[in-house]
Amino acid sequence: MEELIRRAAKDISDAGKVVALTGAGISVESGIPPFRGKGGVWERIDPEYASIEKFMQDPEDVWDVLIREMKELIDKAIPNEGHKGLARLEAIGKLQTVITQNVDGLHQMAGNTDVIEFHGTFAWQYCMECRKRCETSRIDMSRIPPRCGCGGIYRPDVVFFGEMIPQQHLIRSRQIASECDVMLVVGTSAVVHPAAMMPVIAKHNGAKVIEINMEHTPLTREISDYLLMGRAGQVLNDIAAELEKNDK
Ligand code: OAD
Repeated sequence: MEELIRRAAKDISDAGKVVALTGAGISVESGIPPFRGKGGVWERIDPEYASIEKFMQDPEDVWDVLIREMKELIDKAIPNEGHKGLARLEAIGKLQTVITQNVDGLHQMAGNTDVIEFHGTFAWQYCMECRKRCETSRIDMSRIPPRCGCGGIYRPDVVFFGEMIPQQHLIRSRQIASECDVMLVVGTSAVVHPAAMMPVIAKHNGAKVIEINMEHTPLTREISDYLLMGRAGQVLNDIAAELEKNDK
């Protein structure tokens, strides 16, 4: 592993543009469970709860079963060594952009300044009738589903299954993926598209793809140059430390 950490640090150091694509795995050490795999949300809750069809049919049920729990978990989560590691890479000028599938805001809280929230943000809700926005922290949870002053139902500003990725995020992510020299792919099962296409675009445009995950993914064999198998917190802390050492 030490050898791979040094290799990753060297690849990042030699690169002009480095970007990261992150998924739920990077927030696991902050107490937010992943979606898939052991202990994942979809073990307990049917994934249809994350679909726009289900939300339109029965918003009360979706708020009750899924969104309420997300709010409780995200409210108390703070960045872990993984988020901080990526912020340290930016601080020493080695990381430009984070493309994240997560909606928890932890990359920004850790200090990364250019974060593309590919699947939206849980920090905000908007009214399905009048589109007025409200911070999630200010939502009155005593009534489920929470309602705006106009009577409309609030929904989180996230991308449900069955919805499009916001155009500007998709276009910019594709561009960044095609221009980077190194893409770090951290804590994503890489099965949800189009996010999972970003490492493929990077690879096809000549970038090195470095994966950090506890297990193999569909990218590991053909797209990733190598996999650092371990927890994102430890691995990113070690990479950041190695780069900071060389930076002095
Ligand atoms: P997943 O839950 O599908 O995958 C999490 C990945 O993180 C798995 O590959 C785990 O092996 C890995 N992992 C778990 N703990 C880790 C740790 N401590 N360090 C490193 N890796 C770890 O999450 P995503 O790939 O983000 O979409 O899922 C993609 C999308 O599917 C989500 O954005 C969400 C979901 O349904 C929408 O809601 C639209």
